[in-house]
Amino acid sequence: MNRDELRQALQFYRDLGVTDVYLAEAPKETGRESTPIKVISPQEEVVLPGLEPEGDTLEKIQEDIGPDCRRCRLCEQRSKIVIGSGNPHARLVFVGEGPGADEDAQGLPFVGRAGQLLTQMIDGTTAKEGMPIHRADVYICNVVKCRPPENRTPLPDEMETCGQFLFRQLMAIRPKAICALGSTAAKALLNTKDGVTRLRGHWHKWHDIPVIVTYHPSYLLRPYNQDAKRQAWEDLKKVLHYVYD
Ligand code: URA
Repeated sequence: MNRDELRQALQFYRDLGVTDVYLAEAPKETGRESTPIKVISPQEEVVLPGLEPEGDTLEKIQEDIGPDCRRCRLCEQRSKIVIGSGNPHARLVFVGEGPGADEDAQGLPFVGRAGQLLTQMIDGTTAKEGMPIHRADVYICNVVKCRPPENRTPLPDEMETCGQFLFRQLMAIRPKAICALGSTAAKALLNTKDGVTRLRGHWHKWHDIPVIVTYHPSYLLRPYNQDAKRQAWEDLKKVLHYVYD
């Protein structure tokens, strides 16, 4: 494990809420004697498993979330848990913020007005670029799986609680790239406070997977955001060509 991989591994466990991490001995590349990295939680000492929980699948993740998840306060007002939809072997995954009213009613992500714009953006861009790819070929999910009341931004503890399932979804699918829609998705994946304007236009990484950040479709629905719309189309073109060329 090199330094970058180690940093990413530690971030992964930090994201999962593991706070106390000690290196038992130096990593292998130094040429010195090395034993596995140990994570020591207040109660126990455990050896880190691989980054990909062994044999994890989208079905297993859904089963673990359960039919009536009550891990955070978002359960109180939701109708349906919105896990994700699309191709479980997708080479491209879109990550939004959280379900809105339509998604909450149907149990599917991005089916309301913002979702229709996202579908148009995906299908329109691929058609224009001559790619035989449609929305059904990608996978779409959110940082939080239950609708925040009044569509408010998910709170940090809600993102943390539900984030473990997003991370498992991404690990299970292992796409070639991820497109983060809006600043909440960017924050969850990149652990940054920067906004979309600053983050878009460059490649980032979630573990070893390249990430493009672009504007959330809800933002693009506002009439005065024509420039952002053009930029989002550019971002989408970039990630689609990277994944499917
Ligand atoms: N906005 C999101 O972030 N996700 C959805 O699924 C719908 C709207």
